[in-house]
Order: sequence, then structure tokens, then C-alpha cells
Amino acid sequence: MSKTDPRSEHVDNLVAKTADALEDGKYPLSITHDEAIYEAERERIFSNTWCFVGHVSEFEEPGDYARRYIGEDPFIIVRDERGELHAFLDLCLHRGAQFCTAESGNTSHFRCPYHGWTYKNDGTLQGAPHMREAYCDLDTDDVTLEEATLESYQGLLFARMAEEGPSLEEYLGEFTWYLDVLFGLTEGGMTVVGEPHRWESDHDWKTSSESFAGDSYHVLTTHQAGLETSLGKGPWSRIEDFPDASYLACTDKHSGGYYLLDDAETFMGYPEAVTENLDPDLSEAQRDLAGRSVFHVGTVFPNMSYIHGIQSAGWGGPWLGIRVWQPRGPGKVEVINWWLVPEELADDEEFKHESHRGWESLSPGGAFEADDLVVWNGITDSCKSTMIDRRETLGNMQLGLDGMSEGVETVDDPVHGPAEVTTKGLYFDERHSRVWYGAWQSAMEEYRGDPR
Ligand code: FES
Ligand SMILES: [Fe+2]
Repeated sequence: MSKTDPRSEHVDNLVAKTADALEDGKYPLSITHDEAIYEAERERIFSNTWCFVGHVSEFEEPGDYARRYIGEDPFIIVRDERGELHAFLDLCLHRGAQFCTAESGNTSHFRCPYHGWTYKNDGTLQGAPHMREAYCDLDTDDVTLEEATLESYQGLLFARMAEEGPSLEEYLGEFTWYLDVLFGLTEGGMTVVGEPHRWESDHDWKTSSESFAGDSYHVLTTHQAGLETSLGKGPWSRIEDFPDASYLACTDKHSGGYYLLDDAETFMGYPEAVTENLDPDLSEAQRDLAGRSVFHVGTVFPNMSYIHGIQSAGWGGPWLGIRVWQPRGPGKVEVINWWLVPEELADDEEFKHESHRGWESLSPGGAFEADDLVVWNGITDSCKSTMIDRRETLGNMQLGLDGMSEGVETVDDPVHGPAEVTTKGLYFDERHSRVWYGAWQSAMEEYRGDPR
């Protein structure tokens, strides 16, 4: 059994060490960049959990499709002629060729570029060249594209490769309460504008996914230059004490953080088109949370993150971005970033112009993104060290543990929803990191499979 085998003892040892270290608010840094761990993540995590693959507004018409990935497996998300959405593996059942040759588009059929087998957009085989003479006895019912299970919540599409498992709502658990506020704010819901924006980075998908789950502790250091050039502008300046106004909401897998003002009509800076069309399904507490919100950031395990809120401070907004940290090999990631606006504002060019300026802070050319990428690349580079393997070096995520941080308290107020929420959470509590690595450890253990 080689060290790169995803079911090797090396992997199982590191997973067991993670469980031990987590008890003390730590984790082995060597899981960050390790080929065997990476292969095991593909097999154990991405083959079993629900993964974000897009938004329903991208697939409104029959035939609308886009290429998306679960782990590194290429999938085509497509709406068929009867209106059903599917997630098909992009693999022709003749010899395994990729049959989808564009990133997105609209088609009733996919024709494989190798020998011409043609599939309808419901995954069934329509025909093949010389079908009658060459395939007299082919059982076409047997030739249906491999399909992942697809479910949606508040327009968010998630797919799962495993045939068995919890429903999407069970998987999202209490985090649905917060997703309602962020993605179901208005009756029309959110809608994607344009194609998702993509960029590549030499960092491991775990690092950014965990950071977006609620790390504001890094902001004043990593993003110091950007903040210094813009502080004092916009509604951010109304948050007088950043730590006090910050909250961290954690479930067993998913976490998010947010800043609140006392002003119940803040609504992340959205104009009346939003506040006059709030979704009546929101509870009073959800409405209050949305009303007082300035900014939200969070991660749905394993690799979907979001940022939603006032971008002010010179960078326009409000802005809602969903991003997927797409694994592209050990220590490599492709970031796929969707921009969404409330349906009620989808034709408001002035609003979209300001919202679009969110990219000025969060994109490869933005003031903040480059700061993070440099740090994350360095983490990935250093964590392939053989020394940390030998010394069993641990990373620290102890902020907020009992006796460690002053003023971090659990809040008990309906406005904060059903998760465990702490005050000063985004600054002095790293529970989101402990939850994130806890979810990672559980999945790596639960889906271990039989040793080869
Ligand atoms: S591989 Fe697709 S038709 Fe042959
Ligand atoms: Fe950052």
C-alpha cells in the first residue's frame, strides 16, 4: 500500500490524529497539503456529500446547461425538455469521451465528438451513426448517462454522487434558517448575473473554505492596506466596535458570520425594491436579522462559500457572491464565483452598476482577493513540508475556547436563529474552524470504506 493510496494507513493516521488534536482546538498542519489526503478527500468527501453546482436561475429554459464539477468529476447540469433538472457525468457510455464541448449553452441533444453517439438532454440515447446496421441488438434502455442526485434549496443547486444519503435539507440542517435570509430575502429570490467568474490559485481548497466560514480575525492584518485606504467611508463606519458587532453562527458542519447594526432598516444596504418585497415566508426573527445586517460571510461544507452585504468603503454594493473552491489537484484550486442580485433588481442598471463594483474588492484584480491568495499560497507551500510530518506539527484554532478569550458569549436571542451563536465571534472565536475541521474529520472517518 503506497503513501499516496487514498485508503492508506498514512491517511487513516492523519484522520485519527485530527480527531485527537481537535479535542484541544488544534489540527495537524500536514493534512493541508498531502497527495494521499487529497485523493482520499475526492473519494470520501466529494463522492458522498452534497456539493454546490449552480443556481436555478442559470437553467430557466429547457436545454439550458452548464459544465460544473463535483470534486474533480465533470458534470453537466441541464434542464430537459420536460423541465426536469439533471446532473449528468460528462462521460459518453461508448468509450468515455466528454460529450459536452462548451462551458454553457442551450441544447436539446449532446453529440459525442468521438464516434457521434447522441444523447437527449434527459440522458437517454437518441441514436448513433449507422445505428440500424451497426447496432442491431443494442439495448438502448441500458445506455443512460450516469447521473448524480440533484436537489435545490432557495435556488441553490446541490448534487450528490452517492446514491444513498441524507436529503439536501437534512444535510443543510439548521443552516437553512440563515440561507433563507441570504438567498430567500425577497419573493423573487436571487438571480445570477452573467457567467461565473473563474481564477486559479496554488492553494488547497480546505484553506479558503475554512477561512470563509468565519475568519475575520485575519482581516485587519491581511487586508490592512486596503482598509487603510478606505476606512471611514460608507456604512461600515457606523460599526463603531467591530468585535462587538460581530457574530458567529455555527451548526455541526456549516458556519457563517455577520455584522449587525441596531438600525433595523439596514438590510445590507439594499434599496426599497428589496425592502418592499421581502419574502413573507421569512419569520419575524429572520426579517429582523436581515434588517440589522451589514455583511455576511460563510461556508456550506465542503466547498461552497458566500459573501453578502454592503461593500461600501469605496467598493460599491450591496454585493452577493457565491464561490466554490473547486479542487484541481493537490495544492491547487479553481475558484468559481457567481454574482447574484435580487430578482426585483435584475433590470435595474443603476443598482447593478454599483453592485458590480463589489468585484473591485473580491476578484483576482480586487483590493482584497490578492491579499488572501498570497497568504493561502504560502500556507499550501509550507504545509507540504516533510518536517511537519515528522514533528507532527499542529495548527492552532483555540480562539473562543473556555478560558481563552474574554467576552465571547453565547447569545440567546431569536434574531440569531437556531445555530450556536457567539458575540465577538468573528474576531475572538475560531469555532467555525473547529466546526469545519470537525466536519472534515467526520466525513473522512465516516466514508472511509474498506481498506484495499
Ligand atoms: S466515445 Fe462517445 S461515441 Fe464513442
Ligand atoms: Fe480575506
